Amino acid sequence: IYCYFCQFQMISVTIVVASGQMVKMDSDRSGYVGSQVELRCEFVNSNPPVKISQVTWQKFVNGTKQNVAIANPALGVSVLAPFKERVRFKNPAVRQRTPSLEDTTIIFNNLRLSDEAAYICEYTTFPAGNRESMVNLTVYARPMVQMSLSTPTIVAGSKDLKMTVATCISANGKPPSVITWDTELNGEANTEEIRNTDGTITVRSDYIVVPSRETHQQRLTCISTYNDEQYTDSVSLNIQYEPEVIIEGFDGNWYINRDNVQLTCLADANPAISLFQWRYLNGSMPNSVELRDDTLIFKGPVTYEIAGTYVCDATNSIGTGSASVEVTVSGKSAWHEQQRAGAAIGGAVVCGTVLLAAITLLAVFFHRQRRTFKGDYSTKKQVLGNGFGKAGSLPPCPSFPQSLNYTEDSNDEKKPEVYGGESVQEFHGYPDNRMKAYSTVEDSQRCRYDEQSYLYDYGSEVEISVDMVPQMDGSVISKEEWYV
Ligand SMILES: *[C@@H]1O[C@H](CO)[C@@H](O)[C@H](O)[C@H]1NC(C)=O
Ligand SMILES: *[C@@H]1O[C@H](CO)[C@@H](O)[C@H](O)[C@H]1NC(C)=O
Ligand SMILES: *[C@@H]1O[C@H](CO)[C@@H](O)[C@H](O)[C@H]1NC(C)=O
Repeated sequence: IYCYFCQFQMISVTIVVASGQMVKMDSDRSGYVGSQVELRCEFVNSNPPVKISQVTWQKFVNGTKQNVAIANPALGVSVLAPFKERVRFKNPAVRQRTPSLEDTTIIFNNLRLSDEAAYICEYTTFPAGNRESMVNLTVYARPMVQMSLSTPTIVAGSKDLKMTVATCISANGKPPSVITWDTELNGEANTEEIRNTDGTITVRSDYIVVPSRETHQQRLTCISTYNDEQYTDSVSLNIQYEPEVIIEGFDGNWYINRDNVQLTCLADANPAISLFQWRYLNGSMPNSVELRDDTLIFKGPVTYEIAGTYVCDATNSIGTGSASVEVTVSGKSAWHEQQRAGAAIGGAVVCGTVLLAAITLLAVFFHRQRRTFKGDYSTKKQVLGNGFGKAGSLPPCPSFPQSLNYTEDSNDEKKPEVYGGESVQEFHGYPDNRMKAYSTVEDSQRCRYDEQSYLYDYGSEVEISVDMVPQMDGSVISKEEWYV
């Protein structure tokens, strides 16, 4: 008789109904290798009561039955080889002198892969006869997951040759793992499953890509999913490749007399560059060139002799990469001309302003000259902290330059020298008294020289009180002294 309801029951609990008695078991159980699992078996006795004459546990595999354990009310308990050491009845009542055999659940210890089978729990009763039920035991094996690079360092080939760069292995698992890769690399995975004799499966996945500069240091993550558990392992690729070289430094604006020009060889390489070599393709290397590893320094101002083609060869253990630059030298740069035009206008403005201020000062000065100085010069105070006013090095008062040619060579690199704190040192180096620093700011210091007065600024280091009259040598005399 087809029983729809009965089949439904089979899914979770096996119930054998026969004359009011039944054997209750789980339909399936599972455990990992080495673990413990309980196989439940209960005899539900109902009216009229029956006599249990024996309970037999059997392993059912390949269509044959093998006895595992027997409980007999008169003869006691017997666990057979090869289960003797690992199987026992859970309920102590089973082993008693006058046993109770209603619950004959067994405990399986130290599970082995070979334990996977269906197990039958059979009750021999009188007068009802045999009643049995079955449980399917599945044994899992946790895999060993291991990820490795094919070799610690991979050399990028000259051809676009694909190769295995990393391998992920999930060994001896049951059921087999599913391996996926997480990476930004544009490679492919080649995965295979190997069935082992013990029933486990080894899954091996090779990640295949063309090793190149771009793949260097890329991360590869292997994700091995096993029974809802995830193992992840990552590696960073170490791809060696020959140098890729560029030369920096030539801006197309190397003009005659330009200073501080140099060429630098920049190389992208793994491993690092062991040797930089420079070549000049138009004869022998110019004399002004100083070789400093990755840099070619052109000492002194630019001359026409340095024009030509320069090649940098950068070498690492994989190979040599080269780059070249064609250096041209121009009379004056277009950029330079523009700057000059701008500077001329600026210079004219400054010139006008300075002259105006000078005239004003001159007037003030001559006005004050009429008063007599009766003070004591020894009361002069040094106010300049930059060495300008130090005794014994009385500086020349700068004359106003004939033209504002300082603006002409005032390219960005030179500006700090002309106007910055070093201007005073510069100053001493000019016996022709060319003034290198001046402006028309309010706190300017007055300077008198050869009937001419100018305004010039020594920078923020100079703090002159309103009541002090600065002197040429950088000292100041109080107004009180001056005007007595
Ligand atoms: C046990 O597994 C076998 C096949 O391996 C299957 O035919 C049977 O129905 C299963 N029994 C239970 C109770 O799930
Ligand atoms: C079951 O049968 C298969 C072949 O049909 C055999 O390889 C396996 O060893 C058998 N298992 C047992 C436990 O005898
Ligand atoms: C330098 O040599 C290179 C290659 O021989 C050539 O192309 C280039 O025109 C030469 N330059 C000069 C300035 O002679």
